[in-house]
Amino acid sequence: MSDINIVLIGFMGVGKSTVSEYLGKRYSMKTVEMDQIIEEREKMSIPDIFKTYGEEYFRDLETELLKELQSERNVVISCGGGTALRECNVAEMKKNGRVVLLTASPKLIYSRVKDIDDRPVLYGRKTVEGISELMEERREKYEAAADIVIQTDNKSVSTICEELMHSLTEMEE
Ligand code: S3P
Repeated sequence: MSDINIVLIGFMGVGKSTVSEYLGKRYSMKTVEMDQIIEEREKMSIPDIFKTYGEEYFRDLETELLKELQSERNVVISCGGGTALRECNVAEMKKNGRVVLLTASPKLIYSRVKDIDDRPVLYGRKTVEGISELMEERREKYEAAADIVIQTDNKSVSTICEELMHSLTEMEE
């Protein structure tokens, strides 16, 4: 399985970065945090990128970065929560990767994001209902992109990663 990448997608606060870090350590894989690379390149936080240039500009940066990442192998790519919403991005993800959708309940997501203000998409909708609505809007696209879906509520990161690796191995057989 060492030539393929693991591409983690899913709603904000679902645990993509935590799972990515764990997989990286446990399976000695390089990890790529898309949001972080974009912020470093732009020398700006994501809220500032949205404010200064608008959401489309940010989305184009995501698409560009995903294309670049196709030269990588055996890496875990932790996407931003909106990356899988563009069809062309999903096509890039699938070139060398298996797409893993992490899901969690709106309540759990809310508890994780409620005190953090770095997600412009949640401005004005940071309630369980607001999150639930946006999640429903995105569900179809997330599910269409996914090769594997892992439900994460009430599971430890090690359990999530074991499940994920088990499903990936089954897929490759
Ligand atoms: C976004 C999710 C964020 C970040 C940006 C937009 C989204 O990433 O890319 O704020 O549209 O869902 P996380 O999922 O890592 O919070």
